[in-house]
Amino acid sequence: MLYSKVISERCIACGLCQLKAPDLFDYDQEGIAFFKPDHNRGCIPIEDPKERIAFKTAYTACPTGAIVRQSVPFLS
Ligand code: F3S
Repeated sequence: MLYSKVISERCIACGLCQLKAPDLFDYDQEGIAFFKPDHNRGCIPIEDPKERIAFKTAYTACPTGAIVRQSVPFLS
């Protein structure tokens, strides 16, 4: 399984993740990204193959490493 969230302290609001994966990432009022499917809790897996490809593109594009991923749900 693939889970993700954004470490908001690392996000510089560059916008690339939402451009690359609009169904997975969105922004708050300050332009800081969050993982859209579960409001950045990191507990809902990315299962759709097309979304997984979009995720990898966004993950690679993020200039600050703000997008994190792991194979089990995030606990916080
Ligand atoms: Fe922020 Fe990285 Fe997205 S800097 S806006 S999480 S591409």
